Amino acid sequence: MTRAAEPIVHIDDDRFRVTEWRFAPGAETGWHRHMHDYVIVPLADGTLRLDMPGGQQARAELKHGVPYSRRVGVEHNVTNASPEAPLSFLEVEVVDDALAGRRRATMERLMAAFNARDLDALMACMANDCAFHAAAGPEAEGRVHRGREAVRAACAAIFETYPVAAWTEGVHVVAGDTGLSTWRFIGTTREGSEVDVRGCDVFAFDGELIARKDSYRKARA
Ligand code: NI
Repeated sequence: MTRAAEPIVHIDDDRFRVTEWRFAPGAETGWHRHMHDYVIVPLADGTLRLDMPGGQQARAELKHGVPYSRRVGVEHNVTNASPEAPLSFLEVEVVDDALAGRRRATMERLMAAFNARDLDALMACMANDCAFHAAAGPEAEGRVHRGREAVRAACAAIFETYPVAAWTEGVHVVAGDTGLSTWRFIGTTREGSEVDVRGCDVFAFDGELIARKDSYRKARA
């Protein structure tokens, strides 16, 4: 008969999850797949048996306080193979990459919403407290539109100005709380003048939503 190892979650926020696993002799975690990169810090000396997909087995010798790291995607069942001693370790998972992935998805949805000229979808990407700093305007920041109503109106004005508009070649990068989208904008104004210009948006995030969209464009000269 097998016993389940006991997980105790010490930290669970948007950057880290730290779980202490306590194993009685013979206890096991059960099969699981690691969804994040992680570090194991043994809290005792001991031996783990690792069962892997396809029936492979391995043993790992744990040394108290000597950490090791593994990449996302590891799949196994972990058993305390020490016949008599209990065993425990800290598992430190880096979950920041999950938030970065959701932020990148928000940037992709935002560009899709611009191309679909869908104001509701566009505002669904924006945080409650949001601002849009347009590429051109009288201020050092361009023109600042603050608050959901103002941001929505500014985006509607872009669609007004450009009955034909496409944001293409989007590349989206997330670094900490900052996002960067580069793109090529191709549009035609109501007056019929054509615009084809590269630009970028620098984003500040609130959770996975956009708190500030700060736009820049090349100036043709
Ligand atoms: Ni594991």
